[in-house]
Amino acid sequence: MACLRIQCITAIVAIIGFALPCTKALPAAAHPHPCAQAAPPQTQLDLNSTVLAVQARPWGLAYLNDNIAFAAINFSIGVLDTSQFAPKLMHMLPLPPAFLIGNDDPNADGYGLREMTLTHDKENLYVATGYGAIILDVPRALQGRNDSFVGVLSHDGYAGRSAIEASITADDKFAFISQEYGSNVTHNLGAIEVYKITRQQNRTVTSTWKGFIGLGFRTIGQQFSTDQSRLFVTSEINGTARSLNQTGGLISVLDVETLKAKPARSLIKNVPGGCHPVRSTLSIDGKQLWVSTRESNQVLAFDTDKLADETTADPLLAQVDTGTAPLGITAIRDYIFVADSNRWNYSDTTAGVSVVNIGDALRKGYVNFPQIPTSAFPRTVVASPSGNTLLVSEFDAASIRAVDISSLSAS
Ligand SMILES: *[C@@H]1O[C@H](CO)[C@@H](O)[C@H](O)[C@H]1NC(C)=O
Ligand SMILES: *[C@@H]1O[C@H](CO)[C@@H](O)[C@H](O)[C@H]1NC(C)=O
Ligand SMILES: *[C@@H]1O[C@H](CO)[C@@H](O)[C@H](O)[C@H]1NC(C)=O
Ligand SMILES: *[C@@H]1O[C@H](CO)[C@@H](O)[C@H](O)[C@H]1NC(C)=O
Ligand SMILES: *[C@@H]1O[C@H](CO)[C@@H](O)[C@H](O)[C@H]1NC(C)=O
Ligand SMILES: *[C@@H]1O[C@H](CO)[C@@H](O)[C@H](O)[C@H]1NC(C)=O
Ligand SMILES: *[C@@H]1O[C@H](CO)[C@@H](O)[C@H](O)[C@H]1NC(C)=O
Ligand SMILES: *[C@@H]1O[C@H](CO)[C@@H](O)[C@H](O)[C@H]1NC(C)=O
Repeated sequence: MACLRIQCITAIVAIIGFALPCTKALPAAAHPHPCAQAAPPQTQLDLNSTVLAVQARPWGLAYLNDNIAFAAINFSIGVLDTSQFAPKLMHMLPLPPAFLIGNDDPNADGYGLREMTLTHDKENLYVATGYGAIILDVPRALQGRNDSFVGVLSHDGYAGRSAIEASITADDKFAFISQEYGSNVTHNLGAIEVYKITRQQNRTVTSTWKGFIGLGFRTIGQQFSTDQSRLFVTSEINGTARSLNQTGGLISVLDVETLKAKPARSLIKNVPGGCHPVRSTLSIDGKQLWVSTRESNQVLAFDTDKLADETTADPLLAQVDTGTAPLGITAIRDYIFVADSNRWNYSDTTAGVSVVNIGDALRKGYVNFPQIPTSAFPRTVVASPSGNTLLVSEFDAASIRAVDISSLSAS
């Protein structure tokens, strides 16, 4: 049965698919991704910033409100006081061993707590890792309590052990997990797994696993449409490619109501997603989905109405250059902020955060947007609710940077 389903998806991919060009020159240095290269220099944007040193490998970030943010720091959750411009670490909550869910070797590169998302009522924080996600009780975490961890989403690695992002429905009753690498059961396709959530009276959170849908290879980014009827999902490599050297990625469009009940039947369509599409965000007005394509040093903007419908095959609006190996992406006012990770450590380029003016990008296409300098491997970017501060996790530098973005106003 699993075979049939995957063949079916592959067939849909083959019918709908056409590739976006991915033909940049080969990098000078040996590199696993043939279309990757260092991006050309950008204008540096001189904004005030300050850095908080943390234990190791900071990744996911989420603001609770302007005064508090959470950070995934290796295998701990950091609770940050952000009431002043310079963030302070209030509490470090180490993950109890029972919550490791599939992180068998916590020292291995690639393990750790990853992207995080708050429930809409802000009572729980979900952090993707290993088999699924760990769940924190927010009021307890704010007090630094050792009973802050109140649940896991886990199906024991059946559909994958490399969970990277989580989305939660508006009623906080379903969670969707991206399994980057999938498992033998997904035929090594990346997957979205579905959990139905129950909150117990004692604040423990339990769940029922509802299944999965296999997509392309290396499934990572997921964003709801504004009305939550669709989930837009990136896979770095499409399901027809059979080697890393084939670099056409996918945006898969899933029907959310079907995903909740019968995940494997939720695919509406796949559209070409550029060279290794990884992270995504909606513009504040919900009109575009912005996707970082890591190996072409670009962000792509897609028309969300055209993405959401059942037929439009080419919803691409704009394709804009960034810095090197863009990953984390977020929107604030009329800007898109993209973490130019330079994660492969090219020597002839910079790491930073590109600041894309949406109006210019849509009107003029390729524009050399400026970059805020950062330390090594900026991974996730989030803006404070007020829009005055940007937090950046600097994975290789073991720090979290706060940048004053209050002076940026849309032109
Ligand atoms: C998948 O990628 C291959 C190789 O890059 C390309 O030939 C094919 O057109 C792509 N299919 C889709 C649906 O993007
Ligand atoms: C992919 O390309 C690299 C060179 O960029 C080459 O060394 C490698 O053999 C290729 N791999 C496959 C599976 O074709
Ligand atoms: C940076 O901070 C200094 C001192 O607070 C201030 O005078 C200056 O205007 C700030 N610069 C920017 C670009 O915000
Ligand atoms: C990350 O956390 C694990 C588990 O606590 C620990 O074994 C490891 O040493 C930590 N890594 C670093 C670089 O601090
Ligand atoms: C958790 O904290 C409580 C209250 O501070 C303390 O009594 C208890 O021993 C702690 N439990 C563990 C497992 O550390
Ligand atoms: C998948 O691998 C697991 C162990 O890694 C094995 O127990 C299971 O039988 C395999 N399932 C399939 C469908 O191959
Ligand atoms: C909380 O309630 C659930 C469901 O009644 C129960 O299974 C669980 O053991 C309780 N947990 C604690 C820590 O009391
Ligand atoms: C890049 O350099 C950092 C040290 O700054 C190192 O920790 C990391 O492993 C390197 N990454 C790669 C892909 O070589």
